[in-house]
Parts: sequence; C-alpha cells; structure tokens
Amino acid sequence: MTFLFHSDVHRGAIFREAFARNLPDLPFSMDPGTVDPESVRYLITWTVPENLQRYSNLEVLFSIGAGVDQFRIADVPAHVKVVRMVEEGIVRMMQEYVTLAVLSLHRDLPAYLDQQRAGLWQALAPVQAPERRVSVLGLGMLGQAVLKRLKSFGFQLSGWSRSPHAIEGVTCHAGSDGLTDMLSKTDILICLLPLTAETRGLLDADLFGRLPRGAGLVHTGRGPQLNHEDLISALDSGQLSGAVVDVTDPEPLPSGHALWSHPRILLTPHVASVTQPHSAAKAVIDNIKRLRAGLDPTGLVDRHRGY
Ligand code: NDP
Ligand code: OXD
Repeated sequence: MTFLFHSDVHRGAIFREAFARNLPDLPFSMDPGTVDPESVRYLITWTVPENLQRYSNLEVLFSIGAGVDQFRIADVPAHVKVVRMVEEGIVRMMQEYVTLAVLSLHRDLPAYLDQQRAGLWQALAPVQAPERRVSVLGLGMLGQAVLKRLKSFGFQLSGWSRSPHAIEGVTCHAGSDGLTDMLSKTDILICLLPLTAETRGLLDADLFGRLPRGAGLVHTGRGPQLNHEDLISALDSGQLSGAVVDVTDPEPLPSGHALWSHPRILLTPHVASVTQPHSAAKAVIDNIKRLRAGLDPTGLVDRHRGY
C-alpha cells in the first residue's frame, strides 16, 4: 500500500520527510509514472488525475486544499473517501486575509485610494466598530475562525449556514429566510462558502439588492459564486461601496477584465489562504492514523452535500 503525493515538489519533499518519521511503514511516492497504480491506497492532489481508475485499490482521495469543488466528485468511485484539508496554516492565513479585508472596508480604504489618485485630502465620516455589522456566509472551519478573530474589534457579528449553529457573540442564521434577515442587517459581507450547485452564482444583483445601500463585500469563497457583471453594476450604482475579491471565474482573470481596474475593487490572485506543508503533512498523517484505527478522517466530505 502506497501514499501518492501528486502536487508540487517543494511541499512533496516536506510531506516525504514527515511521512518517513511518522509512518515509516507506509511507502511514499511523488512519481505517478513509476508507482505501481494498484499499490496506491491514498492519493493527495489538487485536481483529480484523468486516469483515476488506474488506482483500482484507492481508498482515500485527499484534497491538498480546503475546497473539493475542483474534484468532479461524481466521477470518483463511490467507495473512495474524499477528504478536504483541515490544517492550521490555512486557517491562520484566512484569518489574516479576512481581517485585512474587513478593516480595509471598515476604514474606507477603497474610497481613500480613489481620493489619493485624485489628489484629494479629505476625511470621510468614520463608522465606529460597534456600529459596524459584519456577516459571514459559511460557518465552517474558516467562517468560524474568521469570526473568532474579528470579535476582538468589537463589530456586530452574524453568520449564515445550511444547518443551525450557536456561536457565542455571533447571531447565527440558517436557511433562505435566515439569509434575507441577515443580509438586511449587514454592512460588510464575507463569503466563505464552498462551491456547490446551491452556492454557484449566489453573489448576484438579487443578493446585493438585499444588503443596505453602501455595503461592502469580501469574497474569498470560489470564483463561480460571484456574478462579475452584477458586482460592477452594484459598485457603479453605489449599492455596494467596495469589494475585496480573492477568487474569480476564470482564474487567472483575463487581461483587460473590468475587475482589474475598477476603483472600488481590491483584487488579489487567489492567495487568501494557502496550504502550509508542515501542518498539512501532520493533518494528513493524523488522518491516516484515524483511518487505521477505524475512525472517520477529519474533513470527510459528504458526497451528497458536495462539501
Ligand atoms: P466547511 O466545509 O468547513 O464549511 C462550509 C460552511 O458553508 C458550513 O458552515 C456550511 O453549512 C456552509 N454551507 C454550505 N453550503 C451552504 C448553503 N447552501 N447554504 C448555507 N450554508 C452553506 O468549509 P471551510 O470553512 O473549510 O471552507 C470554505 C470554503 O472556503 C472552501 O470550500 C473554499 O471554497 C474556500 N477557500 C478559499 C480559499 C482562498 O484562498 N480563497 C482557501 C481555502 C478555502 P453547515 O455548517 O450547515 O454545513
Ligand atoms: C483551498 C484554496 O481550497 O486554496 O485551499 O482555495
């Protein structure tokens, strides 16, 4: 039985070393060209290789990232467990990025950058944190982690998920009525949802119209959740006052696309959070130990929900 690492060599070397130390009985390969496909029990990758069926004894498909939408899960044999990445590096980086984005919108950075370009020295009326309502779409590993970090600023916090949650200091909403209610009381909206049939295209004109005029958006979920044209229209009309966008569809964003140059958009190239190899290797090793003990791995994906 072999663990096949199918990703970049740099992170692979760190995984190899951690596996040799912690799971010395498990052969480790980084070379799909030479590994015996029938020996592969565990595969870690970002995208599913075309010839997945050659790994006829595959038991677990690990995503090297937190998302699994890049896998066509329906094409993965039903008996193969699909596991997303749950590791502290991704969490820490997302907390940093979303804090940066929320504070940028809270302190009117898009407007001040506009003013800087226009050579205008002019103070805008500041809103105090306790009056600022910040809401998160998605109360999973990352949504909850960013809420925990944002708490220290004193914002009014809310969150939305599929199933009901109870989080101290956060007003939790669920389902479609819960979403409408939350949006009407949101000044800065953060998207940390997985991409599924239900969340594709969610960030559109209809949703922006349910936010109070002048709200801000932080999008760190997945590109296809955001309707680019609706975002531009909402910014141009003043329905939204600014957006921090880390994920787009397609990626990379084509040159000349309106998102590159819109004065109210701060754009980054899908870097909000990146799997950190030392902590990720530890997480995967812990999961293999859990599997060997007959337990479900942390981050096991529910195929029906798609996340
Ligand atoms: P989790 O699976 O832990 O959490 C997902 C959350 O979304 C859950 O709270 C879930 O609700 C909620 N949700 C899912 N579908 C719906 C729906 N239809 N309606 C309402 N709520 C819904 O995911 P993570 O927190 O680990 O990651 C979230 C996403 O962040 C990833 O899938 C990925 O797309 C993105 N990401 C982006 C990165 C970047 O660099 N930009 C890096 C890493 C991740 P419930 O709790 O009820 O199940
Ligand atoms: C992830 C990502 O899913 O980088 O980890 O987006």
